[in-house]
Amino acid sequence: MDNRVSNPHERSLVVVANRLPVRRVRKGGRAHWETSPGGLVTAMHPLLRERGGSWVGWNGAEGGSARPFSHDGMDIHPVPLSADEIARFYEGFSNETLWPLYHDALRTPRFHRKWWRTYVEINRRFTETVLPLVGPDSVVWVHDYHLQLVPAMLRERRPGAKIGFFLHIPFPALELYSRMPWRREILEGLLGADLLGFQSRLMAQNFLRAARRYTDARGVGSHLHHGGREIRSLPFPISIDINEFETLAASEEVGRRVDELRARIGPERRIILGVDRLDYTKGIDVRLRAFEEILSRGRHTTADVCMIQVAVPSRGGAADYDEMRRLVEETVGRINGEYGEPGRVAVHYLHRNLPREELVAYYRAADVMMVTPLRDGMNLVAKEYVASRLDNSGVLVLSEFAGAANELSHALLVNPFDIDGMAAVVENSLDLSPREQSSRMRSLRKTVHAYDLYAWASRFLGALTGDDDR
Ligand code: ADP
Ligand code: G6P
Repeated sequence: MDNRVSNPHERSLVVVANRLPVRRVRKGGRAHWETSPGGLVTAMHPLLRERGGSWVGWNGAEGGSARPFSHDGMDIHPVPLSADEIARFYEGFSNETLWPLYHDALRTPRFHRKWWRTYVEINRRFTETVLPLVGPDSVVWVHDYHLQLVPAMLRERRPGAKIGFFLHIPFPALELYSRMPWRREILEGLLGADLLGFQSRLMAQNFLRAARRYTDARGVGSHLHHGGREIRSLPFPISIDINEFETLAASEEVGRRVDELRARIGPERRIILGVDRLDYTKGIDVRLRAFEEILSRGRHTTADVCMIQVAVPSRGGAADYDEMRRLVEETVGRINGEYGEPGRVAVHYLHRNLPREELVAYYRAADVMMVTPLRDGMNLVAKEYVASRLDNSGVLVLSEFAGAANELSHALLVNPFDIDGMAAVVENSLDLSPREQSSRMRSLRKTVHAYDLYAWASRFLGALTGDDDR
């Protein structure tokens, strides 16, 4: 039991998320388990590993067994999906309808009735898997946009259950959300929860506005009455396991990797770093063009600066993702063709998953970290960078459109659509005195320290179970 998380957590916890913490991967005819990608798993895995509980989710592959198993102190309950269901539920409705709609329609959301029907069916399958795990003292915590119907489906069968829902991505403005053909059904699905958590106050309010407009839920402030129950919609900005990142950053192994990396890049060259899932919401292409702009201005050359872009493969096979990969690779190639020298690459591009130690070594080696999504619910990478800067050095350049910007106001904030503006801010960041760097980073570290992953979970579960300290 994790004693960093207070009382209400003595109840048994059932986490329901599309992704399990591990996914089944086939290589050379052999299947093995590896850590699942993305911020949801980064946050929920340490939490559940520490305090124990059940996790209901998909194994990330086609088919597989529904037989429960234990992993890292958790009881895992897989929900198998067929190839067709993956295409319609995960790739289709979740990632081609909801994902773009909820991220400011950065790509045109596609609305297909077939996808919607499968979304309903799969939400029902998740609900059926959860039901036998719900006892009188259980707390069910449903996560993210794939499973917005699960709260009401559970409520129907377990009227007295404690059900929470947390959305890791933005909840869009009413003007955008209104496009959704099944807007009432989704809102009613969410209203099955007792508590709805969002990454920011604005997102919690967006939900409240939509619910008041399209359902018969009524109420003032953060409260709604619906179906004879009271429901609250509140902000709970998610965070990271700061201890884990600080411990890693201080470790000898990471120190050795940092020295190696620095020696390979050249000790006199500054490193500008980007780390993202390869997603069109992350603004990787625009960020690269901002770096290109810096080199074209001529104050900096590959003799004194380079960029490292680490991109985790994500949702490969989906047209928008494959296109973004092509665009990123083309842009990297163009910049290196134009500005690289033998032995002095302008942009180092890594398209792969990295072990945590290596990731933290990159965070520690980077003079400037560019986190410039066009829209992001939170962005944990920004917080991970701050947590890894134990000596208060380094500069965080952060998009105004990342949820993290609400808290990390001492970062250098940029408009990620503005190439010239970003180039100017990054140029300035390369000139920032050690004193100014340290003063900003100190404030950022204080913010991240004040409210970590365990505080986030305690606040959410406390509010859900009635042990609310606010
Ligand atoms: P999202 O949830 O959209 O993926 P976040 O920034 O919130 O975005 O979370 C991404 C998570 O993925 C972070 O915890 C980060 O450490 C991890 N990550 C990003 N790039 C890599 C990589 N190349 N290898 C391993 N983990 C990565
Ligand atoms: C974001 C979403 C998660 C998702 C992750 C990785 O963090 O909020 O729900 O799991 O991206 O995406 P994937 O499609 O690989 O699960």
